[in-house]
Amino acid sequence: MSEDSSALSASKHRLPRHIAIIMDGNGRWAKNRMLPRFAGHKAGVEAVRGVVENCARKGVEALTLFAFSSENWRRPAKEVGLLMDLLHTALGREVKRLNENNVRLRFIGDRTAFSEKLQSRLHEGEEETKENTGLTLVVAVNYGGMWDIAHAARLIARQVKDGQLDVQDIDEELFATFLSLNDLPGPDLFIRTGGEMRISNFLLWQLAYAELYFTDTLWPDFNEQTLNEALASFAKRQRRFGRTSEQVEQEEGA
Ligand code: FPP
Repeated sequence: MSEDSSALSASKHRLPRHIAIIMDGNGRWAKNRMLPRFAGHKAGVEAVRGVVENCARKGVEALTLFAFSSENWRRPAKEVGLLMDLLHTALGREVKRLNENNVRLRFIGDRTAFSEKLQSRLHEGEEETKENTGLTLVVAVNYGGMWDIAHAARLIARQVKDGQLDVQDIDEELFATFLSLNDLPGPDLFIRTGGEMRISNFLLWQLAYAELYFTDTLWPDFNEQTLNEALASFAKRQRRFGRTSEQVEQEEGA
């Protein structure tokens, strides 16, 4: 068996339960074709559709996509407006397909900054797919990892102030229950497309033990083949969670 095919067959046994992706490179993809940046974002939505369907088919439990960061408001107002419109239209169009694929849709981030119209669309998307039992698709909108941690701290502080929680009870386990994604397994695999090697204020706490995978592929070109490459790389890694490799090998052999 070639190294590649053995990695792919291994990947069936070591499939990440949760994949988190920073979808970078839409602007450059468009620029390479002398198209406006927005054309790149539109092509990015097509890539989203492909990765969602592939993850659902492979049996991945959760997929979290960074669609709009709290820092993205700094982009030109026109691009921000177009991104909001794109999110609104894509949701209107895609919910039927998500249902066909048994995908449950959820959003994380501070959505109060969005228009009423977009907030209702987000809510409808969640409501219309909430009974689905396959892949959980989490879309991060107006999300930032530092916001998530500060928000959790605020919720905890309020409970302490109201006497519902004792300061002594605050530990990592309790803190995590106040964060986004608290009901999902932590991401096992983090993918960033577009060549940059940064986490860019994505899931700071939740990525503590994730395997990191960076690719030069621009997001609109991310397809089943590039996903398989990331999965094959994941399958080859040994996840130690602080233990020695001897301990891990012993446990895996047991
Ligand atoms: C980064 O590319 C991409 C974004 C900020 C937006 C991502 C949004 C989508 C793919 C569409 C909406 C998503 C869903 C889930 C429907 P960039 O513009 O930073 O690219 P560049 O680095 O090449 O300029």
